[in-house]
Amino acid sequence: MAKKHRFDTMAVKGGYGWDEQLRYRTMAPPLIQSAVFPYESAEWAADLYSYKIEGFAYGRINNPTNDIFEKRMALLEGTEAALGTSSGMAAIFMVAHHLVQSGEEITSSIRVYGGTQQLFAQSMPRMGIKTNWVVEPDKIEAWEKAITPKTKLLHVESPSNPNLFVADIPAIAELAKSKGLPLMIDNTICTPALMRPAEMGADIIIHSATKFISGNATSLSGVICAKKEFIDHVRHIGYRNIGPSISPFNAWLCLLGLDSLSLRMKKHSDNAMAVAKFLQKHPKIEAVSYPGLESHPQHKAAKKTMSGYSSMLSFNVAGGLEGARTAIDNLSIAVHTTHLGSSQTVAIQPAATTHYQLGPEERAKAGVPENMIRYSAGLEDPEDLIEDLENALSHVKG
Ligand SMILES: Cc1ncc(COP(=O)(O)O)c(C=O)c1O
Repeated sequence: MAKKHRFDTMAVKGGYGWDEQLRYRTMAPPLIQSAVFPYESAEWAADLYSYKIEGFAYGRINNPTNDIFEKRMALLEGTEAALGTSSGMAAIFMVAHHLVQSGEEITSSIRVYGGTQQLFAQSMPRMGIKTNWVVEPDKIEAWEKAITPKTKLLHVESPSNPNLFVADIPAIAELAKSKGLPLMIDNTICTPALMRPAEMGADIIIHSATKFISGNATSLSGVICAKKEFIDHVRHIGYRNIGPSISPFNAWLCLLGLDSLSLRMKKHSDNAMAVAKFLQKHPKIEAVSYPGLESHPQHKAAKKTMSGYSSMLSFNVAGGLEGARTAIDNLSIAVHTTHLGSSQTVAIQPAATTHYQLGPEERAKAGVPENMIRYSAGLEDPEDLIEDLENALSHVKG
């Protein structure tokens, strides 16, 4: 598509418009399940390998189906280019690996997904890379303090999983610019349907496409969106050498998911708001965190940065660990598993599962109490979700 269209049109046609449809004679993007691609001539192959021309050299570097997914994601995020990865973690790792070398540092909000925390705290130090954590990421002074002369990358997850910290992205982007540092935003929870970090000054946007982008828990996948020069460098150096490519089948499933992204994000947001309001009044709930509630500590930042509040909320159940366990075990519509952003509602107790490895001290710093339940509202009828919660909470000792 030469002309730039509006969001929903790009979500169904981006990267695969009329010209491509005529070339492949398919309405939906084709699934090119091939690891290799025949070359036109010796000269063509030589030009391809010396980057004089663009084309498909080998499936670890690119693939026609992946290319459509990447083009569509770049259009939706408003960046020049994108790169599909085998998972969200692979996307974060590839960015960090590309920008930060041994002896250098990352500055990151401490309010991040447990896997990201472990990547930065456990795996990156093995490569000589240290992370300076911003324990109060709502304070710009805290970011300034955590940046050292060795810092090469700033990382923010907003809203964060599981405790829904919402960052003032424009303010952090301004600081990043003033220091000449790249800012990476994990936009998994909002997706570009609800938040567009590039318009707020972010340089690199990553996703766990495993979540809302594919949309129904079928495929592990990720994506990096950024300037073309950056994406080309990552693709032709770390990505090619390390091999964290997205499988064409998963890129294809993500493309199918993108068709309905903004419709789904609206319904997820409406359902989560209905559930959050119900829980807020429930006597067996000690606290509810949802960026759409006025009681949320960063509600102002959420209003400023997000056009909807997404599916995820967290709540603390009365009765500590036991109360949360009882509630989880008595849910029957919400699936008990480690996922979010799927068409089916999901619930989990992060302190005992996704954040277990952090240990009690780190969990306290990351704001993950043991009676917290993380809940991702799916696309079911909100009345059924509320009845399911009402029944589960009736088993919790008051
Ligand atoms: C916010 C966020 N970022 C990154 C990841 C990692 O994504 P993946 O599981 O696709 O590697 C997750 C996974 O839950 C996540 O919630």
